[in-house]
Amino acid sequence: MTIDNVSGGGSQREGLGRRARPAAHELERYEALFATRTRRMRSSAMRDMFALTERPEVISLAGGLPDTSTFAPELYAKLMSQIAATATARALQYGPTEGMQAAVDCIVEVMAAERTYVDREDVIVATGGQQVIDLVCKTLIDPGDVIVAEAPTYPGAVPTFGAYQADVVQVEMDADGMPIDELESVLDRLAREGRRPKFIYTIPNFQNPGGVTMSLPRRRRLVEIARERELLVLEDNPYGLLRYEGEPLPTLYSLDAHNGSPPSHDDGTGASSDLVIYLGTFSKILAPGLRLGWAVAPRPVLEKLNLGKQGADLCSSPVTQLFVAAYFAERTPAGGPAWIDYVERQKDLYRGRRDVMLQALAEHFGEQARWTEPQGGLFVWATLDGVDTTDLLARCRDVAFVPGRAAYVDERSGASSMRLNFAGSPEHEIREGIRRIGAIVDRSIDTGLLKALSAGSAARSDSAAHPDSAAHPGSASHPGSASHPGSAARSSSPAPAQADAVGRPEAKHAQSDDLDSDAETDTADVLELPGRSQRRARRSQDR
Ligand SMILES: Cc1ncc(COP(=O)(O)O)c(C=O)c1O
Repeated sequence: MTIDNVSGGGSQREGLGRRARPAAHELERYEALFATRTRRMRSSAMRDMFALTERPEVISLAGGLPDTSTFAPELYAKLMSQIAATATARALQYGPTEGMQAAVDCIVEVMAAERTYVDREDVIVATGGQQVIDLVCKTLIDPGDVIVAEAPTYPGAVPTFGAYQADVVQVEMDADGMPIDELESVLDRLAREGRRPKFIYTIPNFQNPGGVTMSLPRRRRLVEIARERELLVLEDNPYGLLRYEGEPLPTLYSLDAHNGSPPSHDDGTGASSDLVIYLGTFSKILAPGLRLGWAVAPRPVLEKLNLGKQGADLCSSPVTQLFVAAYFAERTPAGGPAWIDYVERQKDLYRGRRDVMLQALAEHFGEQARWTEPQGGLFVWATLDGVDTTDLLARCRDVAFVPGRAAYVDERSGASSMRLNFAGSPEHEIREGIRRIGAIVDRSIDTGLLKALSAGSAARSDSAAHPDSAAHPGSASHPGSASHPGSAARSSSPAPAQADAVGRPEAKHAQSDDLDSDAETDTADVLELPGRSQRRARRSQDR
């Protein structure tokens, strides 16, 4: 079970997360047998969350779940019967490692909806996007190799990067995604140290967990930099089609394949990028239970991914590939593709839930909190200055969220932030969940509990970020005060003085195993968030 499939209270929990965790003395018996890489495969920030979400009364805003209860059971039954009637033997047989053509056709169709026109020969079907992350690491990463990622980054990628013993350097995001000048400074520093990242990992749309979207100028510049420096980019895009307002932006893949200009329908057939590895998935636009994702990659990389996949699972499930193919053949009464109609309905649902969450946050989180206002995707990233959200989660009995530390390889940064999923729960649960968190924060602060636990780390991190902010706890919610210049560089692209003998930032040593005993936080929360009034103004412009 990973952080992004952890379920919890509510209707969608069945069958997930039921296994009891081994006790410490049980683990000890096996300790000497475990490979070194397993030491970095655990996430101490997640322990309380897993325990919590196993209880049925808990409202979970923690998982990365879409709402699959909206998929009509009759349609599911019809598609499965169709497969049974026409292709039982194929469905139950092994399939090609690179994927069945029928599934690849659907992938090409989804990519076209993203205005990214790919050659089917450049596609490999995977067992979820998660497998793509794993296979890319398997293909490219030797222990100690550098991956540059956003800060915060996808919590599900953190243990994968750890398992391959990558040295992950995180670049703090602001409201427009990863600042490319910061990225360039990091790349320059690494170059001075004689180190070249194996790839840059980015989630440009409605980032998980940050909820922010990379602006078009930054996308263009990122692709230019990749060209100038011959660097691979892993573009992870599960949420691109789940946009609730504003104009879609071109994928990095399409920008690179078309030399920086977004493709038009006329010229956009089958162009390949030779530096961007694109990751897509059916999980958020259809259903994660299918476990189907894909990569579009330069051919030499694709071949290695294919070999890696053979070693991992031989092939992705033909049953679910045929299911997707049958589903994509479905038409609405008006004659349009049924899958697009479903995505549109999901968007309406999630837009409403997002608005409910934003409203509830305004009502229950108080002036010291700030949060992102995503234009799409599943997540809001909220920051409560002076509160350690791992401590907070430990105090929550009936509501769960993902503590911010899970989105950092050092497991220390992001300590005051939390990821909240608004897509997977009905509106009344979202309202109630946020109310419960707000009440626990208020109660804990009133009784001095959270303050006592967090004051040390908050003061340290805030003073590192902004000399005055610890003295003025409310300052973060003042318009603009969270956006002080230079903040993007402060934790993830450390100044040389912070680097150790081999030039690695100190924060990365926190991949040690004893994080629980050391609550020190060396970074304030990372997303530069616009103040509330700015956010409101921006949203009304967007609409
Ligand atoms: C950014 C990102 N990448 C990859 C994945 C993996 O998705 P899946 O393996 O279900 O396709 C997720 C799931 O939440 C995600 O948010």
